Amino acid sequence: MNDLMIERMETPAALNRQVQKMFSDIAPRYDFLNRFLSCGQDRYWRKRAVSRLAPHAGERFLDVATGTADVALEIVRKGPKDSVRVVGVDFSEKMLELAQEKINSQGKNHSIQLKSGSAENLPFEDSCFDGTTTAFGIRNFSDVKQSLCEMYRVLKPGGRCVILEFALPQNSILKAFYRFYFELLLPRIGRLISKHPSAYTYLPETVASFPVRKEFSNLMQQAGFRDVAYQELTFGVVILYTGLKQV
Ligand SMILES: C[S@@+](CC[C@H](N)C(=O)[O-])C[C@H]1O[C@@H](n2cnc3c(N)ncnc32)[C@H](O)[C@@H]1O
Repeated sequence: MNDLMIERMETPAALNRQVQKMFSDIAPRYDFLNRFLSCGQDRYWRKRAVSRLAPHAGERFLDVATGTADVALEIVRKGPKDSVRVVGVDFSEKMLELAQEKINSQGKNHSIQLKSGSAENLPFEDSCFDGTTTAFGIRNFSDVKQSLCEMYRVLKPGGRCVILEFALPQNSILKAFYRFYFELLLPRIGRLISKHPSAYTYLPETVASFPVRKEFSNLMQQAGFRDVAYQELTFGVVILYTGLKQV
């Protein structure tokens, strides 16, 4: 068991501190490892999520756990030219720093604003966004139900929520191959490149214990979302969840 798994049994605040430190530590290698370890699939997963979000002119979105702002940038790219606004929130200052550099280098700082904050206590008023997203973030939150309620609270009535998260394939043969890669190879490559002792062990451990498919959809419904649905991407290694705030 690594330090993070020990903390998961302790307080939410302690877990948040550990997760925050871990992401700040790996931030400089985060984008490279995403592309490398997913063989470029991560871009496709985010594109699919943003297509489901379907940004329209004049709309405003919140990307929770924005990391290096890949989803926020994709929303701006997908939306009608210069007409959508995105706020990216994350509790890792280092991730936000890198996100800001990327946003500046792509000339999108008029469309994307970054804010420091935690998913369990979003620093926004009620009903102010047309859509909320979180990609590969929710599994790390110390209180998943609370963060879903927060995403629901900040949405306007009828607003869309799109969530991406890892899972294990359901087909037993695929699952065996994938687990070999995900639990044995990926942690070694991740450790070698990121130089972090446990971040890429934490990834498969948390994926294995996180509620997926129907179970996660039920959590979304309990938070108030209606028309909750999910779709498997890349043989079910990633799931795209969608839901709407009641009108
Ligand atoms: C795996 S990265 C995902 C980043 C980005 N969404 C992407 O698609 O690459 C997880 C991010 O969630 C952030 N995070 C984790 N728990 C959080 C929390 N409780 N509140 C805010 N941010 C959180 C981390 O700092 C990190 O930047």
